[in-house]
Amino acid sequence: MKLSVIGCGYLGAVHAAAMASLGHEVVGIDVDQAKIDALAEGRAPFFEPGLPELLTETHGSGQLVFSTDVAAAADCQVHFIAVGTPQQVDGPGADLRFVNAAVDSLLPHLKPGDLVVGKSTVPVGTADSLAPRIEATGAELAWNPEFLREGFAVKDTIEPDRLVYGVRSERARNLLDQVYSTAVAAGTPLVVTDYPTAELVKTAANAFLATKISFINAMAELAETTGADVTQLADAIGYDKRIGRKFLNAGVGFGGGCLPKDIRAFRARAEELGRGESLAFLREIDEINLRRRQRVITLATELLGGSVYQRRIAVLGLAFKPNSDDIRDSPAADVAVGLNGLGAEVVAYDPEAIENARRTHPQLTYAASTKEALADAEAVVLVTEWDEFKQLDPTVVADQVSQRVIIDGRNVLDREAWRAAGWRYAGLGRS
Ligand code: UDX
Repeated sequence: MKLSVIGCGYLGAVHAAAMASLGHEVVGIDVDQAKIDALAEGRAPFFEPGLPELLTETHGSGQLVFSTDVAAAADCQVHFIAVGTPQQVDGPGADLRFVNAAVDSLLPHLKPGDLVVGKSTVPVGTADSLAPRIEATGAELAWNPEFLREGFAVKDTIEPDRLVYGVRSERARNLLDQVYSTAVAAGTPLVVTDYPTAELVKTAANAFLATKISFINAMAELAETTGADVTQLADAIGYDKRIGRKFLNAGVGFGGGCLPKDIRAFRARAEELGRGESLAFLREIDEINLRRRQRVITLATELLGGSVYQRRIAVLGLAFKPNSDDIRDSPAADVAVGLNGLGAEVVAYDPEAIENARRTHPQLTYAASTKEALADAEAVVLVTEWDEFKQLDPTVVADQVSQRVIIDGRNVLDREAWRAAGWRYAGLGRS
C-alpha cells in the first residue's frame, strides 16, 4: 500500500520506517528540514535502537522517501498523523496546534476513498471534531493509538501488544487490516471500536502506568519513614499475578514526552467535560512523582552534611530512561538542574543525551565519559539506569572519586557490594 506519515519525530519516523520494512511504500513528511534531510540520507535524527538499521535497509530502494512538502502524500491512500501533542505553554492541557496544522495541510491532497489515521495522543473528542473536515473531501478518519515505548519503538511498532482501531466503517477497518496485515496474521489482539474509546484507551493506559509507578513511589516514601525496603515490597506484591511486578520500580520517577504531559492533559480534559472529580487522583500521581526528584536532592544534601553548595557532584544520567536520548521532562535532568541551582558543582554524563541536554541546560558542566564525571566527585548520583552505570565496579570507581558517597536513584546497584567497597550507599525507599 502507499502510505504517508505526517510528523517524523520519535513516533512518526519509526512508524514510517517500520511500515516500509513491512513492504509498504511510505512517504514521511515533516516541516523540519534538518530532520527530513537526515532521514532522506538514511540517518536517524535521534537515538532509537534498531531505527538506523531499518533506515539503511530501505535506503535508496524508493520504498521509503521523505519530504517537507505535504503534496508528496497526494498519491497515498492512507495518511498517518503522527505529530506531537505537547503540553500547552500556559496550562495543563494538550496543545493540538500541530494536529490541526497537519490535518489542514493534508486536506487539499485528500481524495475520496483515502483514510486519515490519527496516531497522536489526543484529548477524547478530538477525532469527532476533526472528522467533518476530512469527510468533506470524501476521505475518512480512523483513530489508531500507538503504544510504543522509546528504546523499544521498532519492536513495539512491528510486533505490537495489541491493535486498537477507532473507526466509523467496515471499509476503514479493512484498510487498517491491510496496513497491519503482518501483525493481524500473527494473531495480535485487536479491539475495533469508536473514536472516543480509541482515544481514551491511550490516555487510560498511560494514566494507569503513571499510577502504578507513583503508587510504588508512595510506598517508597513510607518505606523511608519506617525502614522498610520498597524493592522487596515490590517483589512481594508483584508475585500476585493480578498486580504483576512490571512498572513497580521505585526510584526518581517517570518522565519523558508522554506520561507526565498525558496525565496532565487527561485531567484537564476531564475538567472540561465536567468530570474533574473522576481524575482528581492524577494530580496526586503527578505530585508524588515530582516529590521523588526533590527527594534525591534532599538525600544529596543530607549525605554531604547539610549543603551541596560548591560540592562536586557526579550526576550519572540525563535521559528520562536508558536507551534514549530524550530529556523531555526528565527526572535525571531535573535533579542535575536542581543541584546546580543550589550551587553544587554538577558534572553530568549520559551516553546519548548530552547533546540534547546542552541545548536546554547550558548552565551544567558535561563530562565526556563516566570516568571524567566521577573524577574527584564528593557524591555520585545515579538517575538513569544505563547498563554502563549498572555495571560500574564499586572497587574500581572508589579510587576515582574523592569521597565514597552514592545515591542510587533507580535502585539498580548491588548495595551490599557497594557498601563492602567502603561506600555510603543510599537508595530510594530502601536504606
Ligand atoms: C510510555 C508508555 O510506556 C508507552 O506505552 C506510550 O506509548 C508512551 O509512554 P515511554 O515514555 O517511552 O513510553 O517510557 P516508559 O518505558 O513507559 O517509561 C516512562 C517513565 O517511567 C521513564 O522515566 C521510566 O524511567 C519510568 N519508570 C518506568 C519508572 O520510574 N518505574 C518503572 O517501574 C517503570
